[in-house]
Amino acid sequence: MKYSAGLASVLGLLAGARAGTTIWSGSFNSYATVADFDNWSWSNEVGEYQWYIHGTEPTSHYLALDPSFKNPADTSETHGLKMSIDSSATWNSQMERCELIPQTTENLGQGELFYHFSIMQNGTNPPESTLEHQIFFFESHFTELKYGVSPSPTDLQWMVQEVPYWSSPFTAGTWFNFAYDIDFSAGTVGLWASTGGAPLTKVAQNVAASTSTNSEDFHVGILRIVNDPTPEDYYVSGVYIETGPITTAIGSGSSGSSPSSSSASSASSSSAPASSASSSTAPVSSTSSAAGPTQTQYGQCGGTGYTGPTTCASPFTCKAISAPYYYQCL
Ligand SMILES: *[C@@H]1O[C@H](CO)[C@@H](O)[C@H](O)[C@H]1NC(C)=O
Ligand SMILES: *[C@@H]1O[C@H](CO)[C@@H](O)[C@H](O)[C@H]1NC(C)=O
Repeated sequence: MKYSAGLASVLGLLAGARAGTTIWSGSFNSYATVADFDNWSWSNEVGEYQWYIHGTEPTSHYLALDPSFKNPADTSETHGLKMSIDSSATWNSQMERCELIPQTTENLGQGELFYHFSIMQNGTNPPESTLEHQIFFFESHFTELKYGVSPSPTDLQWMVQEVPYWSSPFTAGTWFNFAYDIDFSAGTVGLWASTGGAPLTKVAQNVAASTSTNSEDFHVGILRIVNDPTPEDYYVSGVYIETGPITTAIGSGSSGSSPSSSSASSASSSSAPASSASSSTAPVSSTSSAAGPTQTQYGQCGGTGYTGPTTCASPFTCKAISAPYYYQCL
């Protein structure tokens, strides 16, 4: 089902911060220590996650929990998860893998659903850009993030059946928030994204895809192709799946998320793969002198139909998030 941005925001106000209904929560709050992930087995399917796609070392070699491992904007979670791969992390093949799978009896593959997650790499044990990574993917790869592949190996790229539609440099220390917008009825998938504590905006319109899941093949984690000794660490939080309308606030359910969102979601129906452009600047003429109004961090600063301030407060600059529709001060 579709909602206009206006209706969605009204519904959002009525419902409080959270807009849709969460049908599966991948919060780590119930995991006091990473040993809790080992509670799960095929004969004892407990907790939020199936945990079997990992290497031969103890769980604590691949997973760690800490309050500093979550997106700090996500106040609904007590801690985040660090996920690590190295040469010991092979599972069933020569690929290195560290992946959690939702443990639920819900149908995760009907109607329009939003698959939310946040991911960060902090510069220590960063991802190797010469190796292919599959990140938060489905078995059929109808939607996924990739890193280390063409055309932008140093970018986090959102792909639909191997075709890139959006990308951004995988900047160290920056939390990237995403929601896969999957319409299993229509057979389409789009992408919402933001960084830090900014609300999600739609950065790629839905395109046709072979959307399907058996509700046990959403891979929350990382797969690196070919065995390589270089260790890599990723930080993950904010994992949940909801029905529409989408919750755009990060860490919603918490207090006072500012409602300055929902501007970009009305973008048009361009079908061409919109390559990132996240490093280019907005096509706005910046008058150097006159100190007009400036936009604050994460605020919109350009895009089709936008009439507000196009200059960002220092030290932020206006970046194309989804040219030509949406530009943001980052
Ligand atoms: C895992 O099992 C332990 C011991 O039975 C229990 O204390 C803990 O709450 C369980 N964790 C989860 C997440 O179910
Ligand atoms: C990254 O996080 C780890 C904790 O997992 C910490 O020890 C390290 O100092 C951090 N690196 C940077 C560059 O912040």
